[in-house]
Amino acid sequence: MTVKKILVVGAGNMGAGIAQLCAQQGFEVVLSDISLDYCTNAKARMEKGLQKRVDQGKMAAADMAAILSRIALAGDLTPAKECDFVIESVLEQIEIKTKVFSQLDALARPDVIFATNTTSLPISAIAEATGRPEKVVQMHFFNPPTIMKLIEIMPGKKTAPETIKAAVEMARLLGKDPVVCKNEAPAGIVSRVLGQLLNEATWLVDSGVAEPADIDKALKLGANHPMGPLELLDLIGLDVHRAKMQTLTATLNDPRYKHPKIVDKLIEEGRLGKKVGKGFYDYE
Ligand SMILES: NC(=O)c1ccc[n+]([C@@H]2O[C@H](COP(=O)([O-])OP(=O)(O)OC[C@H]3O[C@@H](n4cnc5c(N)ncnc54)[C@H](O)[C@@H]3O)[C@@H](O)[C@H]2O)c1
Repeated sequence: MTVKKILVVGAGNMGAGIAQLCAQQGFEVVLSDISLDYCTNAKARMEKGLQKRVDQGKMAAADMAAILSRIALAGDLTPAKECDFVIESVLEQIEIKTKVFSQLDALARPDVIFATNTTSLPISAIAEATGRPEKVVQMHFFNPPTIMKLIEIMPGKKTAPETIKAAVEMARLLGKDPVVCKNEAPAGIVSRVLGQLLNEATWLVDSGVAEPADIDKALKLGANHPMGPLELLDLIGLDVHRAKMQTLTATLNDPRYKHPKIVDKLIEEGRLGKKVGKGFYDYE
């Protein structure tokens, strides 16, 4: 596989981090979103983060300039015509992802691999929006993508073994240590196991077993977790967590993944987590 230029679609939290990572590893990158403004903002965030590293003496100013010079921006998907690998990281909605993949399919060379960073949407449904389902694969990055070592790789029903091999190679070229799932299953490994742990903590609150602070303290002191499950839920966002548990309940048809009423109640009250200043805890 010869990849020089990578198209990253979606300049949000994850897409911006993935684009930065690709540029840091020496690739030419085009970061695309529905409006150029989103991309410009993303690049400004990257610049701020990199500048901090330069100021701390952790990076040379010339390296920072070189990384930023490798990242071009686009307000549409036209650059797919000249890219060798695509990583999609748009909103977690199947209608949006399938539309993006069908547009990419019309633009990119037939040999180009499409990777999706979806957390829990079905890879096969995304792949079927293209005429190249054998070249579509999940590459699930972790937040923040520049720091976290793992990429989970998962095939859809029609993904070719060579595509998995290429995704593993790409993950290593990005400096990561990948794991490969053998079959398509919603939410992969980490999100599924962690989702259950966080869900169980919300059931403890719901049934009045202990206060959130004590549940968090217990997991930190008793299981050596660096952060309590409810603190982590506040960081992830209760709405994001609930959407994942609903997908798992529906696709696996298994009541183990059901979330308790306390999660609905907090979401109804606007307590979505740290991003709005309140969740299980108050941050203001
Ligand atoms: N946030 C995380 O911790 C995390 C971790 C792993 C994977 N993911 C997955 O990564 C993906 C992105 O998540 P995020 O947290 O970065 O979301 P985000 O909301 O920060 O960013 C999504 C971006 O997609 C853009 N977008 C929407 N429609 C588009 C289109 N048609 N074409 C191009 N861009 C479009 C939006 O403008 C936005 O900038 C999701 O699939 C999510 O499940 C998220």
